[in-house]
Order: sequence, then structure tokens, then C-alpha cells
Amino acid sequence: MKHEIVEKNVGLLAVLILVVISFGGLAEIVPLFFQKQTTEPVDGLRPLSALELEGRDIYRREGCVGCHSQMIRPFRAETERYGHYSVAGESIYEHNFLWGSKRTGPDLARVGGRYSDDWHRAHMYNPRDVVPESIMPAYPWLFERTLDGRDTPRKMEVLRTLGVPYTDEDIANATREVRGQQEITALVAYLQQLGTVLEGTR
Ligand code: HEC
Repeated sequence: MKHEIVEKNVGLLAVLILVVISFGGLAEIVPLFFQKQTTEPVDGLRPLSALELEGRDIYRREGCVGCHSQMIRPFRAETERYGHYSVAGESIYEHNFLWGSKRTGPDLARVGGRYSDDWHRAHMYNPRDVVPESIMPAYPWLFERTLDGRDTPRKMEVLRTLGVPYTDEDIANATREVRGQQEITALVAYLQQLGTVLEGTR
């Protein structure tokens, strides 16, 4: 009898269906907030330097995430190509995440150290100079623009409120580290540290 009330009342039925389904979600999601593996940084993880942080912002501005993921899945086809699969503890200081989901180009989660700085600079200036069949866009303006570092300390302060362990000293030196650097230098510094914290994973 009681069940008939539910069956004849679409609104109530919809609400109850949502409640039932949400149990599945809760069982999967809630434990993630309490597991060490997902809430603590991997050994040796450090916040990005001021220059790397500016590089990351250039990566965001230029939309690199639209063609490149930073998330190696735990499948053999991925780990043989890119290295150790990504773990949550590597992304603890990331705000926002740049895991991405589109791979027009290769995954970049462990690209750090794979090429020289010169290779990256040549590649960003014109990808076809080093990879003739490349369809990646060129970013020549990164070589013309320099950073003034005016907002860098503020960015680090905001990240600190989100739990990134920047020291007062890091913040005080930020502008000096960044000022006058070419944008390409910041971007390459960012790329070169990607995925390097998990030792012996390549
Ligand atoms: C339209 C899609 C597209 C965009 C946007 C794009 N890329 Fe690429 N990227 C590619 C493709 C395709 C390749 C593979 C060919 C090559 O190496 O040029 C590549 C390769 C790379 C590689 C070499 C990776 C490896 O393991 O060999 C790096 C590093 C890279 N891109 C960085 C960037 C950065 C940084 C940006 C943003 C400034 C960016 N890409 C924007 C498509 C893109």
C-alpha cells in the first residue's frame, strides 16, 4: 500500500531514487577525504617555485590543457609510454587541477627531465623545427614577453590559504625571482619539474 504512494507520485519517486543512488556515490567518495594515500603529499613533494608557478599560469592561459592531459592511468599501455601512473599525493598542492581529459598531444604528467631546456624552447617556438609531423601550435610570443612578477607574491599567499606550504621567505623573494624573465623561461621551468618527484619511476 505504502509503495503505491511512491509509484503514483513521480516527484517523490524521483527524490527517493536520488537518495538511493547517492549512497553509492557516498560510499565511493567520502572515504577519499580520510585516506592517507589521497590526502598526504608523496615524499619530497615541494610547492612550485615562484618562476614555475608563473609558468603554470602561462600553461593555463595558453590552453595547453585542451590538448594535453597530466594524468597517467594505471594501464600497461600508458605506463610503458609515459612512466609510473599518476598518484593523488602528487597533486596535493595543485589548485586548480590540470589533469585534463583530452589528448591531442601526449600526456605531460612526467615530461620533466625528458628533454633539454633548449629542446623545449625550440619546440615551443615552432614545433615543426624539432618534430616535423607535429600539429601543435607555435607560441613565438612567449619569447617576446617578460614577466614583472608583481602579482606573484599575492598568488602564493592565496595558495597558502589553501594549504600550500609557502614560507614568508618564498613570498618575499617571489617578485625578485620572476621579474624580467621571459615567459618561455617560466613555462619551461614548469614543464621540467612535472612528475619528477616520484623517484625511479621512469
Ligand atoms: C592543438 C593541440 C595542442 C596544443 C594547444 C598544445 N599542444 Fe603540445 N603537443 C601537441 C601534439 C600533437 C604534440 C606531439 C607532437 C610534438 O611533439 O610536437 C605535442 C607535444 C608536446 C610536448 C612534447 C611531449 C612529448 O612527450 O614528446 C610538449 C612538452 C608540449 N606539447 C607542450 C605544450 C604546451 C606547454 C602547450 C601550451 C603552451 C601545448 N603543448 C599546447 C598538441 C598540442
